[in-house]
Amino acid sequence: MPSLTSHLSGPLRGVVRVPGDKSISHRALMLGAVALGQTRITGLLEGEDVLCTADAMRAMGAKVERLESGEWVVNGLGVGGLLTPDCDLDMGNSGTAARLLMGLVAGQGLKATFTGDASLSSRPMKRVIDPLSQVGAVFEASEGGRLPLTMTGAQDPMPITYELPVASAQVKSAVMLAGLGAPGETVVIEPKPTRDHTEKMLTHFGADVRVEELDGGARRITLKGQPELKGRDVIVPADISSAAFALVAGCIVDGSDITVTNVGLNPLRAGVVETLKDFGANIEILNQRIEAGEIVGDVRVTSGLLKGCTVPASRAPAQIDEYPVLFAAAACAQGESRFEGLEELRVKESDRLSVMAAGLKACGVELQEGDDWLAIKGVGGTGKRVPGGATVASSLDHRIAMSFLVLGCASAKPISVDDASPIDTSFPGFRDLMEGLGAQFSEREA
Ligand code: S3P
Repeated sequence: MPSLTSHLSGPLRGVVRVPGDKSISHRALMLGAVALGQTRITGLLEGEDVLCTADAMRAMGAKVERLESGEWVVNGLGVGGLLTPDCDLDMGNSGTAARLLMGLVAGQGLKATFTGDASLSSRPMKRVIDPLSQVGAVFEASEGGRLPLTMTGAQDPMPITYELPVASAQVKSAVMLAGLGAPGETVVIEPKPTRDHTEKMLTHFGADVRVEELDGGARRITLKGQPELKGRDVIVPADISSAAFALVAGCIVDGSDITVTNVGLNPLRAGVVETLKDFGANIEILNQRIEAGEIVGDVRVTSGLLKGCTVPASRAPAQIDEYPVLFAAAACAQGESRFEGLEELRVKESDRLSVMAAGLKACGVELQEGDDWLAIKGVGGTGKRVPGGATVASSLDHRIAMSFLVLGCASAKPISVDDASPIDTSFPGFRDLMEGLGAQFSEREA
């Protein structure tokens, strides 16, 4: 368990590119494996989570290779072409890999056992077991509907109509991927829009996907089953969820000026930009353009005084993974911030609401935690800093580890995380990138 400590840092400056988008990377490998012909992927995230997906697709018969150029090539087997794996599918820390792959297997009549690390094995899978059982898959899950879990996909998958009980792109995607194997139309209704990478990428690979806007922001997504998917080129933008760490660091460390290039700015992902604007951050989008169907741009921040604000529940799906680092920003802001609609944070890689609350308290930040909200009393103002001087448990959660290391850059005393190794699940190279900008990290404990 390598600990890492972050010290008060001088100005952070530079132009950087963070690794590829995790959500898009998983989907590119999965769809490449069920498309006919070759899929070439540029900018794939080579983090542990995505490598688990690559291994799983290989275990089910797809050819997945990394070229010397850094491009990845998948030779797929077509919808219905995946093979029964002769080993367990180890999904590591990744909820996205586990849930989306269960969807894919559910519609393909295969039997597979899914395993994961202690964090993933504690996360709820009933949310996908329920709709995938309606498709016809059969599950033998561990207590409480958790991993390890063995599933037998449906021989004759049913096209279902499913209204999401939680705002979850993972559940939506699992149902749609199961629908690839079913005849007729699979329909998902989502009360609140969530990231639409699956819809976009299925369309890119040749599937017929219809999206209708319903009253109150809801959406109905219809997929025509048993499509012939064709291998395609995919360009993966930089992950806004990883960019968020550098951007918040640039906002809270005095004298900073950071630009993160080629960031994916899909509106269903870019809530963090709105929230930083609401905090009064100096943030601007430069060179906005469309690449491979996704909006991308360069995001520049310069440091300045942040002011506490209320962050509405309606924005939660568009920044669900960015809350931990936004809480760190709120701790440095002047005045109180209130974040609402946080119930899903409790079932991420850790219970991010209570783990962040405990860590911030240990760093001397005053706050109040509710079932689904957090109110943080920011310590900011000229010359005022979060006290810091604590070691925080990262709880097998990459985003907890990175959030506290970012906070340490602007705190009076250093902040340590007990285990920095989970960072590699989503952001290999985080330490080098932050140090390149001027952050002071060390192996010494706070
Ligand atoms: C993801 C969806 C989100 C997010 C996760 C990636 C995806 O989860 O937290 O990191 O790629 O679909 P939920 O859809 O369960 O909220």
